[in-house]
Amino acid sequence: MTRFLYFVFIFFIPFSVSLNQEGRFLQLLALGFDDVNGFFSDWNESNVAGGGETPCNWTGVTCSKPGTGFVTSVDLSNANIAGTFPVLLCRLTGIKFISLYNNSVNGTLPEELSTCRNLVGLNLAQNLLTGELPVTLSELPELKFLDLTGNNFSGDIPASFGKFETLEALSLVDNLIGGRIPAEIGNISTLKHLNLSYNPFSPAPIPPELGNLTNLQVLWLAGCNLLGPIPDSLSRLGKLVDLDLSMNKLTGSVPSSVTELVNIVQIELYNNSLTGELPEIGWSKMTSLRRIDISMNMLTGKVPGELCSLQLESLHLYENDLEGEIPEILSNSSNLYDLRLFGNRFSGGLPAGLGKKSPLTWVDVSNNLFSGGIPASLCDKGGLEELLMLHNSFSGEIPASFSTCKSLKRVRLGYNKLSGEIPVGFWGLPGVSLLELVGNSFTGVIGKTVAGAGNLSTLNIGNNMFSGEIPVEIGLLGSLVEFSGGNNRFSGELPRGIVDLEQLTKLDLHNNGFSGGIPGGIDCLKKLNELNLANNKFSGHIPDTIGELSVLNYLDLSGNQLSGKIPFGIQNLKLNQLNLSSNLLTGDIPPVYAKKSYIDSRGGPLLGPGVARATP
Ligand SMILES: *[C@@H]1O[C@H](CO)[C@@H](O)[C@H](O)[C@H]1NC(C)=O
Ligand SMILES: *[C@@H]1O[C@H](CO)[C@@H](O)[C@H](O)[C@H]1NC(C)=O
Ligand SMILES: *[C@@H]1O[C@H](CO)[C@@H](O)[C@H](O)[C@H]1NC(C)=O
Ligand SMILES: *[C@@H]1O[C@H](CO)[C@@H](O)[C@H](O)[C@H]1NC(C)=O
Ligand SMILES: *[C@@H]1O[C@H](CO)[C@@H](O)[C@H](O)[C@H]1NC(C)=O
Ligand SMILES: *[C@@H]1O[C@H](CO)[C@@H](O)[C@H](O)[C@H]1NC(C)=O
Ligand SMILES: *[C@@H]1O[C@H](CO)[C@@H](O)[C@H](O)[C@H]1NC(C)=O
Ligand SMILES: *[C@@H]1O[C@H](CO)[C@@H](O)[C@H](O)[C@H]1NC(C)=O
Ligand SMILES: *[C@@H]1O[C@H](CO)[C@@H](O)[C@H](O)[C@H]1NC(C)=O
Ligand SMILES: *[C@@H]1O[C@H](CO)[C@@H](O)[C@H](O)[C@H]1NC(C)=O
Ligand SMILES: *[C@@H]1O[C@H](CO)[C@@H](O)[C@H](O)[C@H]1NC(C)=O
Ligand SMILES: *[C@@H]1O[C@H](CO)[C@@H](O)[C@H](O)[C@H]1NC(C)=O
Repeated sequence: MTRFLYFVFIFFIPFSVSLNQEGRFLQLLALGFDDVNGFFSDWNESNVAGGGETPCNWTGVTCSKPGTGFVTSVDLSNANIAGTFPVLLCRLTGIKFISLYNNSVNGTLPEELSTCRNLVGLNLAQNLLTGELPVTLSELPELKFLDLTGNNFSGDIPASFGKFETLEALSLVDNLIGGRIPAEIGNISTLKHLNLSYNPFSPAPIPPELGNLTNLQVLWLAGCNLLGPIPDSLSRLGKLVDLDLSMNKLTGSVPSSVTELVNIVQIELYNNSLTGELPEIGWSKMTSLRRIDISMNMLTGKVPGELCSLQLESLHLYENDLEGEIPEILSNSSNLYDLRLFGNRFSGGLPAGLGKKSPLTWVDVSNNLFSGGIPASLCDKGGLEELLMLHNSFSGEIPASFSTCKSLKRVRLGYNKLSGEIPVGFWGLPGVSLLELVGNSFTGVIGKTVAGAGNLSTLNIGNNMFSGEIPVEIGLLGSLVEFSGGNNRFSGELPRGIVDLEQLTKLDLHNNGFSGGIPGGIDCLKKLNELNLANNKFSGHIPDTIGELSVLNYLDLSGNQLSGKIPFGIQNLKLNQLNLSSNLLTGDIPPVYAKKSYIDSRGGPLLGPGVARATP
């Protein structure tokens, strides 16, 4: 054993003393960082490679040859290290790539960084760097990738940045950079990705010189305080794939020059102050366009048919002042899954073939003036996850094919002029958590198929003309939190199973024709907050157990034929609203609710704010 250790000792010592100069620089660098995770733990003399001298085997270090040669790359990303930028790195003369991405590098970036003569890529994104951007950065003759995203750099972008000779990607997203975007940026002819989003620039127009960046593929200027029109010069960006000018204060119209961006895939112009009509023609050249968002502007006029004839995946035009019909051709896209048109003045019917060729996941056409029926094909592909059709003027029936929507998650058809019966399968959509049909003219009964809606949490079907009994199957909806069915024409007794809905917090069935007693097991609804059974024909006694609904704070049983005494236990509840008036109740009001302030001055049925009492 001892002999073995001795052997190991003499065998390794010679190597440990012959770490090369680059290794020593790196060790010195490591000493400059707080290293709580021990990232640098293998940066030592016994872990040498390449004939025993180089640091090429150290974590994060790459050399010109595998395991040997000179250092070409130091990758310290996600290392959880803290300290200032180690300019010592530039002593490694062959270094091409430096990444300190996602650490706690603080202080300013030294001008001497320009001594890293062979640097091709510098990634310092997601650190704590402050101060100005070094003007000397553009002196790095080989630099192609510069990512300073997510720091606290301030001051202006130096005009000298126009002198970058080989730069392909510049990202300064999420910093505190001010001033104007310098026109000189338009001189970096090699640039492919320019990402300056989310900086507090001074309010200023988009420099038209950016149109000179004809190699640009990505231009992100979201949240840059940009004013004025979208310059026509941007039409020269023939290679552009992704344009994001959202969240600025751009004015004027969407220029027809935009349609010259023939390779564009995504256009984001939402949340600006754009006005006027969309260009009517030219869109058909943009055969690659898949996603366009011009929501939250002040656009007027119609949606161009040419735009809708593209193979769009996503069309967002919500919260504008658009009008007219949605061109039928939109349903020809086999990619469309996301359509948000809410908050405009669109009219006419929805495209009849919508959903026929593509699995819709999100459709929100609420707050418009649409009319007619819901397209029968809407769920043909079965992918609809959210259907929002609030505040429209739809009329007609919901098509039977809805029952095949396996992935439908949220259905909101509220506040329209929809009518007809709900297709039987529609009640039992297995994935739906929200079913909102409120404020239409629907008729018919709640189907027994509702038993299949195991994920249903909100059932809001009030203000319609539904009739018949509530099916006993309602008791199987173990996830139901809210059941609002007031102002309908329901009748019959409440199914006993309703007391099995353990998650129920709100039960509102006022203004219907229910009869029979209030189920005795009502105290099982332990989470019930609001119980409104007003204006029905309920009879019999109020169950004593109602006093055990400990979180109940709204109780309205008024306008029924309830008789007997008011259960004493009611005074254990902390009710904000209690209305028992217009019943056949007798006896005393529980003392806590009999206070003078609650009692109507006429001594008659108590209709005062929040409280009522039995008729004497
Ligand atoms: C040196 O690095 C090796 C990993 O190669 C590690 O196992 C060892 O603990 C390190 N030695 C010291 C003194 O940190
Ligand atoms: C390189 O380091 C690993 C552990 O990080 C070690 O297993 C291996 O032996 C080292 N190679 C050389 C040549 O030292
Ligand atoms: C950043 O680094 C930490 C380790 O320090 C890691 O847990 C985290 O996931 C990293 N974040 C990202 C976005 O990579
Ligand atoms: C930079 O980080 C180091 C290590 O955590 C810390 O000691 C130093 O105070 C920090 N400097 C600044 C200017 O925040
Ligand atoms: C970065 O700026 C933000 C916002 O001004 C500030 O809250 C934060 O403390 C700054 N962090 C550093 C490291 O300067
Ligand atoms: C750089 O940009 C400025 C402003 O756009 C321009 O006046 C100048 O001629 C450009 N310089 C070169 C060398 O292209
Ligand atoms: C631009 O910045 C955003 C936000 O950091 C990021 O998600 C996106 O990937 C960046 N795009 C490019 C092309 O760098
Ligand atoms: C750059 O664009 C501007 C405005 O679009 C133009 O006046 C200028 O001549 C262009 N410069 C070069 C070098 O192409
Ligand atoms: C719209 O953009 C402005 C900046 O111009 C921003 O402050 C605001 O939060 C954005 N609103 C939305 C809803 O994104
Ligand atoms: C519908 O889309 C297909 C491609 O999916 C295309 O070939 C066809 O021409 C389109 N029809 C019309 C009427 O534009
Ligand atoms: C029901 O909801 C749960 C939890 O949100 C989800 O995991 C499950 O897939 C849903 N079931 C259906 C049939 O969508
Ligand atoms: C109590 O119910 C009666 C009958 O439904 C109604 O007329 C009255 O407005 C209600 N009082 C309050 C305070 O809600």
